[in-house]
Amino acid sequence: MYEKIQATAAWLKEKMPSNPTTAIILGTGLGRLAEEIEISLAIEYKDIPNFPISTVEGHSGQFIFGKLGGVDIIAMKGRFHYYEGYSMQEVTFPIRVMYELGIRTLFVSNAAGGMNPGFKIGDLMVITDHINFFPEHPLRGKNYPTGPRFPDMHETYDPALIKLAGQIAREKKIRLQYGVYVGVQGPTFETPAEYRMYRTLGGDTVGMSTVPEVIVAHHCGIRTFGISVVTDLGGFDNPVEVSHEEVQEAADKAQPIMTEIMREMIVRSEKLKHEKNEQYNTDHPTETWKSQK
Ligand code: HPA
Repeated sequence: MYEKIQATAAWLKEKMPSNPTTAIILGTGLGRLAEEIEISLAIEYKDIPNFPISTVEGHSGQFIFGKLGGVDIIAMKGRFHYYEGYSMQEVTFPIRVMYELGIRTLFVSNAAGGMNPGFKIGDLMVITDHINFFPEHPLRGKNYPTGPRFPDMHETYDPALIKLAGQIAREKKIRLQYGVYVGVQGPTFETPAEYRMYRTLGGDTVGMSTVPEVIVAHHCGIRTFGISVVTDLGGFDNPVEVSHEEVQEAADKAQPIMTEIMREMIVRSEKLKHEKNEQYNTDHPTETWKSQK
């Protein structure tokens, strides 16, 4: 697999119009952000050697190189979900490729069920931590040389970026929630008892993506920031049915604020990177591990 990653990265490197260090995965509810990107190159997943192909309805697959608010980025339009039948190696393949291309900061979004009784449909929740309920671990198997065999998982979601989101939300008067995302395999939504269980265990939202990609990014020393858009509510006294269409609709409604906050995050985190260059690059646990090696 490592050879495949290197080969795909080499293939993309030849075509890359710039050298971005920031990437964004445009999950449900972030499609509109793609329209704001000044695209210099878009490649269909099916045309990239070794890339899995996205199959789920409503998720078109494209790797986009361009600028957002003046910042060079890679945007992944469409992602690979475990429930579609991909292996964990396939789900996280693009993250490993992007690391090889020089990506060091990753922004992710997802649609999720809200379990915190204080949440409303359409709320945005900054992910401060996660609980991994996927049945297979993305780092299972031979360890990749990008990080340690037994990675520390504190500060998996970058505290500086979480703080920055709070500042932006205050300025723009956007209501933000904070909490723990529970990653599950799906494709069923949760039973009422499952929502209650995940809530009891400390979860605030639950969804079928993000956790595998974030674990691999963290193992590579990539700084990560994630937001859930709460598209349905579960686990309360009056269970309400949920459908894919409702999830899509709620995510679409939240698009303008999601777009606004992610665009600002990308632009300002780039500044932060330059301002705090030394510290920003070395105080990350995985970076520290690498420099000690
Ligand atoms: N559960 C799991 N995944 C989801 C949900 C949910 O309630 N809503 C959107 N994605």
